[in-house]
Amino acid sequence: MIYPIVKYGQDVLEKPAAGVKEFGAPLEKLVEDMFETMYAANGVGLAAPQIGLSLRLCVIDVSSGQDPKARLVLVNPAIMSRDGEQLEEEGCLSLPDFRAKTARPAVTVARGLDIKGQPVEIKGEGLLARALSHEIDHLDGKLFICHLSRLKRDSILRRVRRMIKAGEW
Ligand code: NI
Repeated sequence: MIYPIVKYGQDVLEKPAAGVKEFGAPLEKLVEDMFETMYAANGVGLAAPQIGLSLRLCVIDVSSGQDPKARLVLVNPAIMSRDGEQLEEEGCLSLPDFRAKTARPAVTVARGLDIKGQPVEIKGEGLLARALSHEIDHLDGKLFICHLSRLKRDSILRRVRRMIKAGEW
């Protein structure tokens, strides 16, 4: 099932998500649906708040569906360490059509649980470091625009508000 993606302006995107407590078939189905939703939207990551669920859960696939081994599920993740910096264009499915150069760690190590509830540690470099940082931010109620200069952030938000007013959002 493909979920509608929640766009900027909804509270669920800007509050810390609640920890996942139950594992099993319903969680597995939800994760499958999140991958389906992410691929349909051509994203490389999707966090549960983006489909309106305030849960610490995200899926990532930096291969965009090309490599089954690249499929990552992170339940209740946290960033353990960050190293270096990279500055690349970044976007978000919840802020469609807006992209900006965003600073992220060059290397990110995250720990959490897998779909079965087993501990996992993932070390990402490059795009994966960016995706881990971006998706785990979502679980803390943060969007990529909070890493931009105030000037850039305000300019994006002004355009978004204009679109909301015009009924184009
Ligand atoms: Ni996003």
